[in-house]
Amino acid sequence: MEKDKISFGHDFLKMLGRTRLRPGGGLMTDWLLNQVQIDKDMHVLEVACNRGDNLIRIYTKYKCEIIGIDNDPVIVEQAKENIKILDLDKEIEVKNMDALKLDFEDETFDLIINEAMLTMLPNEEKAKTLKNYHRALKKGGYLLTHDVAVENESEDVRRQLSRFTNMNVYPLTVENWNRLLIENSFRPFSQRTGRMILLDRDTIIKDEGPIGAANFYKNAYAEGNRDRFTKMLERSQNTKISYIVLASKKEN
Ligand SMILES: C[S@@+](CC[C@H](N)C(=O)[O-])C[C@H]1O[C@@H](n2cnc3c(N)ncnc32)[C@H](O)[C@@H]1O
Repeated sequence: MEKDKISFGHDFLKMLGRTRLRPGGGLMTDWLLNQVQIDKDMHVLEVACNRGDNLIRIYTKYKCEIIGIDNDPVIVEQAKENIKILDLDKEIEVKNMDALKLDFEDETFDLIINEAMLTMLPNEEKAKTLKNYHRALKKGGYLLTHDVAVENESEDVRRQLSRFTNMNVYPLTVENWNRLLIENSFRPFSQRTGRMILLDRDTIIKDEGPIGAANFYKNAYAEGNRDRFTKMLERSQNTKISYIVLASKKEN
């Protein structure tokens, strides 16, 4: 990827070799998935699948029916390529689709997982998206979300986080994430929150493996990337950003 085309924080981290771009790292994704008994008969949708990392991991572990969507057509092509390299293109489908215009029949899925995306949407779009998830889930279906949580929703906190991600983001407090889900007919039944660990060395080693992590740091501190990476690291250490993972069930 050409450097001057890199705009968002998540694109930059991805270019450095970070594959799991969630505030609670892969650790919290694993925790989330463990809140539900997933089996091979389940129909699973991942929204904001990016380059297919979760899709591949979930299919490999559970052998369930799985489809991923992302609204970035370039990323969707990369996901398809990764899946094809692993010869899983018959098992895992990926589509270019916007979560705000979810184009699936009513009550199609048993489970929807959506990480590090809702935070990017203004509040009215978050609600619209949740309504779409509610419609596309079967009765009693599960929604697993992983997002950024803040202590307060002041403009100052929002601006700090927007500088970190280099895009407009709209994080909520733990209380308001819960409220948003409840107002859109979901019942949160299990949740965790803690300091954002996306850029912690231990998380990077766990998520990317030792060799992947070493490559990541090699890229991060290479000339041309070092200044931006160091600034991101400082910002992540100086802001009070947390992750929140929430497992919810569709209510009628
Ligand atoms: C920070 S990345 C997170 C990727 C992945 N879920 C993860 O946790 O590693 C955000 C992703 O959301 C996608 N995205 C943003 N808005 C979207 C929307 N309205 N519908 C579908 N995907 C969206 C972006 O293209 C990007 O791949």
